[in-house]
Amino acid sequence: MPILSRENYWILETDHTAYALGVNARGLLVHAYWGARLPYAADYPTPPAADDYASFSGFGHLSPEEYPGYAGAKYTEPCLKTTFADGVRDAVLRFDGAEASAGANPALRIILRDVHYPLTIVLGYRVHERHDLIERWAEIRNDGDAPVMLERAWSALWHLPWGGQYRLTHLFGRWMEEWQIRRELLQPGVKVKESRRLTTSHNANPWFALDRGGADETQGEVWFGVLAWSGNWKLAAEVTDYGATRVGIGVNDWDFAWRLNAGETFTTPASVAGYTIGGFGAASRTLHDFARDRLPHGKTLHPVLYNSWEAVFFDVNEAAQMAVAERAAQMGVELFVMDDGWFHGRTIDNAGLGDWWPDEQKFPNGLTPLIERVNALGMDFGLWIEPEMVNPDSDLYRTHPDWVIHFPTRARTEMRNQLILNLGRTDVQDYLIARLDKLLAEHNIKFIKWDMNRNVSEPGWPDAPGDARELWVRYVQGVYRVWSTLAQRHPQVLWQSCSGGGGRVDYGMLQMVDQFWVSDNTEATARLGIQEGFSQLMPAITMESQVTHMGRPLMSLPFRFHVSMMGVLGISDDLRKWSEADLVTGAELIALYKEIRPIVQLGNQYRLLPAQGQGFTAVQYVSKDKAAGVLFVFRVHIPEPARLPPIYLQGLEPEARYAIDGFDAVRSGAAWMHLGLRFDLGNGESTVRRIRRVA
Ligand code: GLA
Repeated sequence: MPILSRENYWILETDHTAYALGVNARGLLVHAYWGARLPYAADYPTPPAADDYASFSGFGHLSPEEYPGYAGAKYTEPCLKTTFADGVRDAVLRFDGAEASAGANPALRIILRDVHYPLTIVLGYRVHERHDLIERWAEIRNDGDAPVMLERAWSALWHLPWGGQYRLTHLFGRWMEEWQIRRELLQPGVKVKESRRLTTSHNANPWFALDRGGADETQGEVWFGVLAWSGNWKLAAEVTDYGATRVGIGVNDWDFAWRLNAGETFTTPASVAGYTIGGFGAASRTLHDFARDRLPHGKTLHPVLYNSWEAVFFDVNEAAQMAVAERAAQMGVELFVMDDGWFHGRTIDNAGLGDWWPDEQKFPNGLTPLIERVNALGMDFGLWIEPEMVNPDSDLYRTHPDWVIHFPTRARTEMRNQLILNLGRTDVQDYLIARLDKLLAEHNIKFIKWDMNRNVSEPGWPDAPGDARELWVRYVQGVYRVWSTLAQRHPQVLWQSCSGGGGRVDYGMLQMVDQFWVSDNTEATARLGIQEGFSQLMPAITMESQVTHMGRPLMSLPFRFHVSMMGVLGISDDLRKWSEADLVTGAELIALYKEIRPIVQLGNQYRLLPAQGQGFTAVQYVSKDKAAGVLFVFRVHIPEPARLPPIYLQGLEPEARYAIDGFDAVRSGAAWMHLGLRFDLGNGESTVRRIRRVA
């Protein structure tokens, strides 16, 4: 039974974990347990009740409330902050009922109500049994006649077991250097991670992992989670004055307001979290499996692609694209993607965004002749778009200058010569749906790379229907509406989310997209670390990775391929300049990739040796049935004459026997996992080894 309920007490059980909550003696809905699944229902603790402590800490401050409203003598981070029409600024929430539903993912809905005002909070809990994850969200409903202002409406507060000092693992970075991993011990107070940029951001990601200092890649307790939201978000990891640790997560309350009119409901994005004793590696694999099951095309293998950007930038035209396409097809590429530069008026980055039809000079006969020739070579065709943006030098902006995000009295700050369309507006949404629907309906397009190349400034919305600060949320809802409408109408399209690289990678995107462009940094050695950070929360099947010529010194072609073969392989380079020998090498490595692709894209990933800050790294993938695996080893730079450390494999069947490319012996999985493999690689060298179960 995934949801066990006794009187006002619920235990949510997944295959290996459990989460318990209940109503305490004070009538508060409080957290009771999160950790390993226990043998008997009676094992789980009862909901804790707290008393006031001295005159400085009220019971609300001391109780581990599941969804605290700001009210009473409470000074820790609440989930909900409201102002009622009469000016009262707190929300006194009490339990008012619950209902559980069965089904594939059993759900629990707990109802809280304000004790005075007609405000209802429904807390949703969905149990992902097989994935060992709990999903939470909140629905805030105004049952009264007067509007209520929401000033904070988070998705969840995740309470960690009491005791010990927790260590927070989080991600930070910037454009070209996303996905850097940091671990730090939490101190009393609040550690905040957030985005104020309108998108998820390159700078931090709404993902967390907490341990009590003892976890590593292979073992230890880890509590981890994500927020499924693609806009401003906030994570507050708080250690209270009485030593309780909790993580609040949700839409950012910075510059946020939402006018909840009579009868309206505000539904928060979901937060999904889990617990494991298998360390950071198991935490990642748990999320990988969950993400793969959410992808629109997560069960099918993703194609090897070619992308024009790093080859010719804006200089796309039919003749040059065809010359490259022929070589790409010969090498075994399956999908040919034309990046930026193809649409009306687009010769460089100062014009064209907004006018999503083929440039009349570059493509006088439209895109169809190129698409047909690409198809005749046996490849699918894909296209780059950046729908949320507009250049002032575009027909769209000349017609609708009021459609961009702006304050009327302020200059409109351009970045990369572009402004942001206000996707909170339904007229903007409808325009984009119509325009892009036409593009997709009239062409045989199988892949779209949807880009978003700047962050917000002057976040104004003149004539907003509600509070102008609703922009932060309505914009993201608008993006979801446009994108998912197009995705539903064109199910043959594989969508990729890009935002100048990894600026919009999150679980909110997964309802539409199958892939992410992880970083504009394609230099292979930097990429090893970037990919390692990305893999903390997303599976390899979502990670498009391209072989380019970025970086000096340029790593060897096989090294660059090996790095990119750890995700969805792509190439973005001017193939007209490749030697015959390079084309042969490329073809061989694409063939090898196609052989190992099911393991990489659909299997389990093991980060055997860390990449970030290290000169020697290894990653292994194992098929779900453990019959096959593949090992990638990279030596970036280690001063001579150091001996490389052994590599201990993971995830094999201990008793089964395996053969590994380049090793004569056939050994048990246990032996390969405990003996350690030695490789004789020089600086700048890499190797890929297939692992096969032989008996
Ligand atoms: C962004 C993307 C790149 C490329 C360019 C095109 O920077 O991240 O991959 O598509 O835009 O302008």
